[in-house]
Amino acid sequence: MGGAAGPAEADGALSQGGRRAAAPRGTRDVLPEESRLRQRVIDVARDAFERYGYARIVTPTFEETEVFVRGVGTSTDVVRKEMYTFEDQAGRSLSLRPEGTAPVVRAFVQHGMHKRPQPVKLWYLAPMFRYEAPQAGRYREHWQVGAEAIGSDSPLLDAEVIALLDGIYRTLGVPGVSLRLGSMGDPESRGPYRQLLVEYLEGHLSALDDDARERMRLNPLRLFDTKDPRVAEVMEGAPRLLDHLSPAAQAHRESVLGALDRLGIAYEEDSTLVRGFDYYTMTVFEFTSDHLGAQSAVGGGGRYDGLVEALGGPPTPGIGFGAGIERIVLAMEGTEEAGAPALDCFVAVLDDALRVEMMPVVERLRAAGLRCESELRGRSLKAMMRHASSLGARHAVIVGEREHADGVATVRDMDSGEQRQVPLGDLVEELSG
Ligand code: HAM
Repeated sequence: MGGAAGPAEADGALSQGGRRAAAPRGTRDVLPEESRLRQRVIDVARDAFERYGYARIVTPTFEETEVFVRGVGTSTDVVRKEMYTFEDQAGRSLSLRPEGTAPVVRAFVQHGMHKRPQPVKLWYLAPMFRYEAPQAGRYREHWQVGAEAIGSDSPLLDAEVIALLDGIYRTLGVPGVSLRLGSMGDPESRGPYRQLLVEYLEGHLSALDDDARERMRLNPLRLFDTKDPRVAEVMEGAPRLLDHLSPAAQAHRESVLGALDRLGIAYEEDSTLVRGFDYYTMTVFEFTSDHLGAQSAVGGGGRYDGLVEALGGPPTPGIGFGAGIERIVLAMEGTEEAGAPALDCFVAVLDDALRVEMMPVVERLRAAGLRCESELRGRSLKAMMRHASSLGARHAVIVGEREHADGVATVRDMDSGEQRQVPLGDLVEELSG
């Protein structure tokens, strides 16, 4: 990707007088080269959300810290270590949004949306802030498109939400995408299972370091996510929640799987899939792309049937997902979509006096929806063609004195170099093809 990614740039670059300023560590600029593809990701997602009946919601960039403490949960890395928390001048504790679900549910509760026809379907496009160790595909500010459907416990909704996200990846042509599916069970499943897991772990304490023991105390399920090989080995043999689901959770799971089968969506069940937030219940899922390195998740989500209540609303089920825009763009590098031309045409006028004559023609092309750039200073044909090609133009439209006298332009295909004469009145049609 074009923008400077985190790890390379120095902290405090500005404070060392005279040093060139740089974006804060772990953040990045989106440069023009990347913008077209990024916008395409957003456009495809928005179009999908609208076709599935979701309306956009915009919430503040920061919330009362309490929203995330209660919503995301105190046992999570996000709340324990990764939030950008600050006090405002009146001493309130506020945090930059590390994720989108808790704020959307907070808004659902605050505005009494449980009184609207259910489920309420909302989508968002927003930056998220997490103080994580930067690496390729992991930033301290990243953007997500996400969707939340609040107010239905139907397992068919789980499958529909997954189909929505799957469709976004398909339309975009994100390569190497696969879907993993798990279940966090309901409280009836999780309580007894947790007990079972802790008993198992207590039999393997010698393999657990302090950090693992702390996790075991806070949320033992999270140990399935460990990077420590010794702990991973212990977890290999651990009992799995999928084998201890309550009858209700098991029935829910089977309905989701059945609906995904009917929709022709391929998945792999993963009994070790634990997502990083405490609010999840029942279905959890993650899409990964094998075109990415360690940070391979291009989107994920799940059910959160207790979250509305945790934030002070009436008991209301919900499900949703978030998908990382930078990761999707990264995964798409080198694809046909990424290489698609950024401009439909570059208009090169060879004669100074004709330049103003051609302006209305260029405006007509733009009014017809064509992405058009035109040379407004005089330059040599060769220089203009170089410029057109560096801008990623599909065609060049070349007009000299002779063409203008005949009411035509020379249209050059920038890939093949083929040229032909086209009447100025036919340009829109010719260039739209
Ligand atoms: P999440 O899995 O933490 O879920 O994030 C969703 C997606 O955002 C990830 O799959 C990944 O593509 C991207 N992402 C996460 N962290 C970073 C990062 N540091 N740098 C770049 N990309 C990142 C959530 O946030 C939940 N709110 C999703 C959800 C919605 N669950 C239910 N509803």
